[in-house]
Amino acid sequence: MEHKEVKHLIDWNYWSDDEIKSILEFAVYVKNNRVFFTGHLQGRTLAMLFQKTSTRTRVSFEAGMTELGGHAIYLDWMASNFQLSDIDFEAEYLSRNVSVIMARMKRHEDLLKLQSGSKVPLINGCCNLFHPCQALADMLTIYMDKGTLENTNLCYIGVHNNVVNSLISITTALGVHLTLVTPIAAKESIVEEVVEKAKLNKTISWEKNLTYAVNNSDYIYTDTWVDMEFFNDPSYQEKKKERINIMMPYQLNSELLKNSKAKIMHDMPIHAGYEITREVVQSEKSIIFQQSENRLDAQKAIILKLIKE
Ligand code: CP
Repeated sequence: MEHKEVKHLIDWNYWSDDEIKSILEFAVYVKNNRVFFTGHLQGRTLAMLFQKTSTRTRVSFEAGMTELGGHAIYLDWMASNFQLSDIDFEAEYLSRNVSVIMARMKRHEDLLKLQSGSKVPLINGCCNLFHPCQALADMLTIYMDKGTLENTNLCYIGVHNNVVNSLISITTALGVHLTLVTPIAAKESIVEEVVEKAKLNKTISWEKNLTYAVNNSDYIYTDTWVDMEFFNDPSYQEKKKERINIMMPYQLNSELLKNSKAKIMHDMPIHAGYEITREVVQSEKSIIFQQSENRLDAQKAIILKLIKE
């Protein structure tokens, strides 16, 4: 019998440009025809495995499966036997019960172990290197706001992290120009392969002049300066203080944005008073809550696509 390879979503970097364009188009369709897919996944189950905390990823995947007529099982890593056994063995067992797995793992290497054991599609629900579901929701948000992605200048202001890597991957494929204002960009956070592809496609640039970047962008995006995992970790408090000192001049606030027409994006959770002020989150320029809502539609499209593959 011919062996059919299972399609996974680890990052958009591993999908072709045409596949990415097509999934975005499909996500737009899913959003505009919300009721059409009701019941499409009746009898199907999604396993959601979490090593880290979440609000949006947990809620939107579970609500998405409910809307599609399927079911979602929440698995807390520490309350499961994943913590005691070889990850690939547990993943193979899991994949004999469910149609699709979504996992939020601390380490990319462990996500790949899950992938190696799974006989069903695996969706990366955010690891230390990538956050592809967020990136698709981000592109969907810009598309719904502007009606096109053509001639779009997106500017990310913050720390180079997993969200940025997936943003680079998806903007490269979709031809959106991404400007990075990233005073903190640790070598271990950057995926060189993704950056090199973007450089070849001329979809990426770096800007040191913050005012210039802010006044020449259509969308301005920021994220937490400290990974959620470490935010309240007592052993990380010194590093957190250091980061805040470096990043405070880059805060999205009304003074910085006074001459900018750009819409404001943030993947949430928000630390108001740090990377962005409460006033900007609630301003007319903000499309942050539309962006977070779009996680649901984007992920429904991903699940439908992967289960049908
Ligand atoms: N943006 C995002 O992934 O949110 P959660 O961490 O709450 O899932």
